[in-house]
Amino acid sequence: MHFVLKKKLSLNPEKPKQSMGNNFISVTDLTKQDILDVLNDAAYFEQHPNSNLLQGKVVATLFFEPSTRTRLSFETASNRLGARVIGFSDPNSSSTSKGETLKDTIKMVSNYADVIVMRHYLEGAARYASEVTDVPIINAGDGANQHPSQTMLDLYSIWKTQGTLDNIDITMVGDLKYGRTVHSLVQALSFFNPRFHFIAPDLLRMPHGYRDFCKTHNLYYDEQETFDESVINSTDILYMTRIQRERFSDLREYEQVKNIYCLRKSMLDGAKDNLRILHPLPRVNEIAYDVDESDKAYYFQQAQNGLYCREAIICRMLGIKVG
Ligand code: CP
Repeated sequence: MHFVLKKKLSLNPEKPKQSMGNNFISVTDLTKQDILDVLNDAAYFEQHPNSNLLQGKVVATLFFEPSTRTRLSFETASNRLGARVIGFSDPNSSSTSKGETLKDTIKMVSNYADVIVMRHYLEGAARYASEVTDVPIINAGDGANQHPSQTMLDLYSIWKTQGTLDNIDITMVGDLKYGRTVHSLVQALSFFNPRFHFIAPDLLRMPHGYRDFCKTHNLYYDEQETFDESVINSTDILYMTRIQRERFSDLREYEQVKNIYCLRKSMLDGAKDNLRILHPLPRVNEIAYDVDESDKAYYFQQAQNGLYCREAIICRMLGIKVG
């Protein structure tokens, strides 16, 4: 059987170049206006979550690390806007398991997709990916470094619950050393004059680089190891985090700190009315289940906000006007 080509094929056609800034790699790449634009678009998508804005587009989700919320909300965002989704949730089901390099994987997937959402255990992996392709890269978490789309939904959640992003008193609790969500959030909040309270065991202290960042940006912060009502009662946002077993190279250290903090409902009796509890999730033991009954628990709505923010981010990466 012979196939007749009706039209001459052009081999290696010049791919349209994406303009600079079409990647979503780090909060440090964003201006205050970029952040506000994403949040405004997210507010639009909260009202209009379904449309055909991405019809004909293909979104790739490459997850080299486990995920529930981030991957599924990016995929839901794509589906709700009419795109198709390809990808993998387990690198063992991809040719990575045969030894294919990240560079080759990204170059291959760039042949198929209009935008690539990727999570990787190596810090800098998303930045590296953006340097080997013209297809927009969205960082869905790179090691202990950055989780910028999580930061957008965290900011959106703060804005929704507090009515403002300005002058927030925020307490971050738990794994501040390896926690990429708190690292990104500290940098993003720097535009809004926050007051930070960092609560962590010495082993998991907020890294020097982020404390220095606060100093150079004239941001108030204090640090302590004790987690009790005295700090809860004066804060607007209580940002709990999981002690991340998978980040420890010495599991004896993990054993020392794994259950160090646990928020219980009784600890909220003297909290401010506007206090809301955020957590990027998953939780392990750091928020007791009785807290879920409190009207201050906001972590499940926070995760839902991720859908709207990720719809906004994908559209922005593809240059699609919203609203
Ligand atoms: N918050 C977050 O990144 O959750 P997942 O690991 O489930 O994606």
